[in-house]
Amino acid sequence: MPVPSPPLLEPARWRGALLYVSLAGMSRPTFFADRSETMPDLPDPAPGSVPSPIGSPPGIIVLVGLMGAGKTTIGRRLAARLGLDFIDADHEIERAAGCTIAEIFARHGEPAFRDGERRVIQRLLQGGPKVLATGGGAFIDAQTRKLVKTHARSIWLRCPLPILVRRVSGRTGRPLLDKGNVETTLAALQAQRHPIYAEADIIVDCGDDSVDHGAQRIVEALDSYAHPLKVPVTLESHHYEVLIGSDLISRAGSYLAPILPQKRVVIVTDETVAALHLPRLLSSLEETGFDAEPFVVPVGEESKSLTRYAALINDILDHGMERRTAIIGLGGGVVGDLSGFVAASVLRGVPFVQIPTTLLSQVDSSVGGKTGLNARAGKNLVGAFYQPQIVLADSSALATLTRRERVAGYAEIVKAGLIADPALFAWCEAHGADILDGDPAALAEAVHRACQFKARVVMEDEKETAAQDGRALLNLGHSFGHALEAHFRYDGRLLHGEAVSIGLHLAASLSVRLGYCPEHDLHRLDRHLRGLSMPAGLDWFDETLSASELIRSMARDKKVQDGRLSFVLMQGIGRAFTTRDVEMDTVRDVLVEAGCSA
Ligand SMILES: NC(=O)c1ccc[n+]([C@@H]2O[C@H](COP(=O)([O-])OP(=O)(O)OC[C@H]3O[C@@H](n4cnc5c(N)ncnc54)[C@H](O)[C@@H]3O)[C@@H](O)[C@H]2O)c1
Repeated sequence: MPVPSPPLLEPARWRGALLYVSLAGMSRPTFFADRSETMPDLPDPAPGSVPSPIGSPPGIIVLVGLMGAGKTTIGRRLAARLGLDFIDADHEIERAAGCTIAEIFARHGEPAFRDGERRVIQRLLQGGPKVLATGGGAFIDAQTRKLVKTHARSIWLRCPLPILVRRVSGRTGRPLLDKGNVETTLAALQAQRHPIYAEADIIVDCGDDSVDHGAQRIVEALDSYAHPLKVPVTLESHHYEVLIGSDLISRAGSYLAPILPQKRVVIVTDETVAALHLPRLLSSLEETGFDAEPFVVPVGEESKSLTRYAALINDILDHGMERRTAIIGLGGGVVGDLSGFVAASVLRGVPFVQIPTTLLSQVDSSVGGKTGLNARAGKNLVGAFYQPQIVLADSSALATLTRRERVAGYAEIVKAGLIADPALFAWCEAHGADILDGDPAALAEAVHRACQFKARVVMEDEKETAAQDGRALLNLGHSFGHALEAHFRYDGRLLHGEAVSIGLHLAASLSVRLGYCPEHDLHRLDRHLRGLSMPAGLDWFDETLSASELIRSMARDKKVQDGRLSFVLMQGIGRAFTTRDVEMDTVRDVLVEAGCSA
């Protein structure tokens, strides 16, 4: 049985509450407790961060929704089921003010009421676990909403209009309903408030069901709800988070609404992803009140061409775009690179959101702000560093990937381990097969670990300006990989991640030949890649490649400085470094030994 809650107001607060009567003539009365005296501020989340409750389960559960949705009746039953205190915020407000809510409205108006309501809710959020039912307008107040989302799990009890009308008709003391026809008023409130309630962490539909059923549904929703994992990316002038979790696309609107400057977005996606994942993104955005316009580009590397970019940016401008309108990239690395550069350049830069849907883009390309297009002279030669406002890495999106695409993404995870995270490499040896089989838990953990790694590197060297090592380490295997991709002309015969996988083997071979890396680490890498049937050498191809052609390609790489190419080599697993001190003849020897013609 829940323990009856003690009085929630200290004597000083009661004094504050009593002030209400004597200050009734003031325009913004301080009829609630003086916050500075009795209530320390709760800490604010860092700018750009998505609020997340600090309480671990069951924590504080806050019920939101329109009047009549059952917040009090179901909330009371829920609290009993969970063994928690139940508190009705409206009752607390009335106690604090010493009069009814209708009287507060009548004497001071709604803004003053919301002010006091926020302070009472803030105080209640400082206590221990409980179920807190809030008044219908509480969550609509942006500051109160932020507090609730930061310190509690919010649940919207969504209820059809006719049921609400039936329940509240005849009730008195509801200031917003006293003004006219109940149905018209509730319908207007519904239109205005539903998009904001939809920002709650959990949505539970409750209609004419019994109170027990309503409480049961909330318990089930709480059981299956997990807050997304977060990887913070803190840069000199920007902070954002990578959220990793299941079904984030279906809740995208609730993550974007608090951080985007405008409820208007443009979505860039490709044909495959549009068919698979765009509908749930659109419905989540619509539910939270966003106006969203999708632009669908063809699948594949060709969409990173200057021609496609020009067409897309013109289409977007024709549609109409303001500087506060965000661009969302929904798709793999191609869509991420293209949409990121569009966001960086249209109107000299608009807010950008990454929703990566391939393993490669979740573990690598969506984090760190590199955007890029291909030019005639080579890949990713046009681009900008442009950081997103948030990255939503939805693990459930990976379920529709082919094994080949998972292999391609997995190569970038192995790369992270080889660069500077031997524990990640060892974890890959234990779990690689699960990842390639599409095991959701293994995928989510891999994405989390790889994003943490990439964020660390990017935070230390955002724009790849370090004289040595730094962000350039992320290019391990890429000089070889890009040359291989160029040979196969980006037409789908060789995926970027497949090229990286072979590139890792070649970079390790070069490191061994130059005496930096023990041979057994090369064997360990090869054993791992080949054990998973991954590309691990030039024997992957049916044809013999030319070392001269690959070296010519490498010489066009943007990592060439004063005619010398920067290589990333390894001193062993987890110990990569950059160097310009590599003779191209040695590179040629390694390529020939690996199976190339001279
Ligand atoms: N900006 C960076 O830091 C960075 C880093 C690494 C790679 N990249 C770039 O990323 C690109 C490669 O990315 P990629 O491998 O994601 O390729 P991609 O974007 O072409 O996606 C691969 C394929 O998977 C499909 N797809 C995407 N999501 C899917 C899903 N959930 N289910 C089913 N199919 C899905 C796509 O339609 C496409 O056919 C390259 O252009 C590379 O240069 C950029």
